[in-house]
Amino acid sequence: MSGQLHLHPAAAAGEVGYVPGSAAGEARRLLSPVRLGTLCLRNRVVMAPLTRQRSLQPGNRPHALNALYYQQRASAGMIIAEGAHISPEGQGFAWTPGIHDRAQAEGWRLVTEAVHARGGTLVLQLWHVGRISHRRLQPAAAAPLAPSAVRPDARCFVPGARDGVGEMVACDTPRGLDQSEIILLVEQFASAARLARDAGFDGVEIQAGNGFLLDQFLCARANQRRDGYGGSTPARLRIVIEVLDAVIAAIGDAGRVGIHLSPLGSMNDTAHHDPQHLFTSLVAAIDARRPAYLHLSGAHAEAVALIRQLRHDYSGAVIRAGGYDAVSAERDLAAGDIDAAVFGKPFISNPDLVERIETGAAWAIADDSSFYGGGADGYTTYPTLAETTAQTRERSADHVARP
Ligand SMILES: Cc1cc2nc3c(=O)[nH]c(=O)nc-3n(C[C@H](O)[C@H](O)[C@H](O)COP(=O)(O)O)c2cc1C
Repeated sequence: MSGQLHLHPAAAAGEVGYVPGSAAGEARRLLSPVRLGTLCLRNRVVMAPLTRQRSLQPGNRPHALNALYYQQRASAGMIIAEGAHISPEGQGFAWTPGIHDRAQAEGWRLVTEAVHARGGTLVLQLWHVGRISHRRLQPAAAAPLAPSAVRPDARCFVPGARDGVGEMVACDTPRGLDQSEIILLVEQFASAARLARDAGFDGVEIQAGNGFLLDQFLCARANQRRDGYGGSTPARLRIVIEVLDAVIAAIGDAGRVGIHLSPLGSMNDTAHHDPQHLFTSLVAAIDARRPAYLHLSGAHAEAVALIRQLRHDYSGAVIRAGGYDAVSAERDLAAGDIDAAVFGKPFISNPDLVERIETGAAWAIADDSSFYGGGADGYTTYPTLAETTAQTRERSADHVARP
């Protein structure tokens, strides 16, 4: 993660790298509609939640630039908008947008209106980082919150001395939540869900993966509690189910609530020692609540067996992220392993990813130096195929016109 304000010369000059697309017509299933709970998607190409750290400061509010970025990608079957922290304490990365006050909800309204104007569907990822934070991001410079006071071997991103510049730093030692704070936390998830609904989102996704707060409760090394929220497997997964129940009640429709898990991911120092038992128990409890979908990610090759089993055990829709291209997504859809494919980096550099899949056009490769922080460059500046073609025509006309 670089902390500079980023220029994106390659994209601006139309010189980004490309990977070949699939042959047009090969992505039949990927382009077909699907229902996830109450959500009706016009295709199975889902945009992954992607933290881009470009909210308006101060206040961590989404603004017109974010609305344009999401509108450019509105042809996705569904957009899972980037993780939004549900409380000031839930933030672990500078400039990420929040969803805990009215001004932020008004900012998100710009985003939902822009995407709906193009006929898109979008949900918001509800995020609490837990111990993946630092005193410099916390109210009153307090210690970050966590299941237990166990410092992670992980880094977070704090603002630097100059505007728009930040730095990666080791996470601080957190403070373990007491029981009354756990009740408050569950209510904060519910309150954020209500704000998201009021802002016009079609639903929400609970972030229970990637080593953030809810995943920390699941992880025996991070969660050393013995008070009903730690110790046994049912105790470790209790808070995830309490949050799911509270968010479903807040939204008023389980079919508009998704949940993200990363069963074999090791991100942010949260490798699980008993993934098989833990995640089969958790998925059974989630299944009983009938949410819109289960979003799985962070699965490497050895994880395939567990992921397949979770898919088999779960009666609802399953969507998955991690290195998909049109061919592998179509293959997993055909095998019945997923109901929709989630694409991350390809959506950063291909706002018209769906159209590229339709036509079999090549995909632009994203420039990772502009992933996190900055302005429009490397964010809203990636051209669509039509814009690239027009630019190329203009350049060659210019060339011909010159003596
Ligand atoms: C820039 C960037 C930001 C991300 N932010 C989030 C996030 O906010 N929430 C989340 O669950 N995953 C996040 N991820 C992970 C992606 O959602 C996705 O799982 C991952 O990129 C793998 O998909 P891909 O290979 O298609 O990129 C992020 C990934 C990238 C590259």
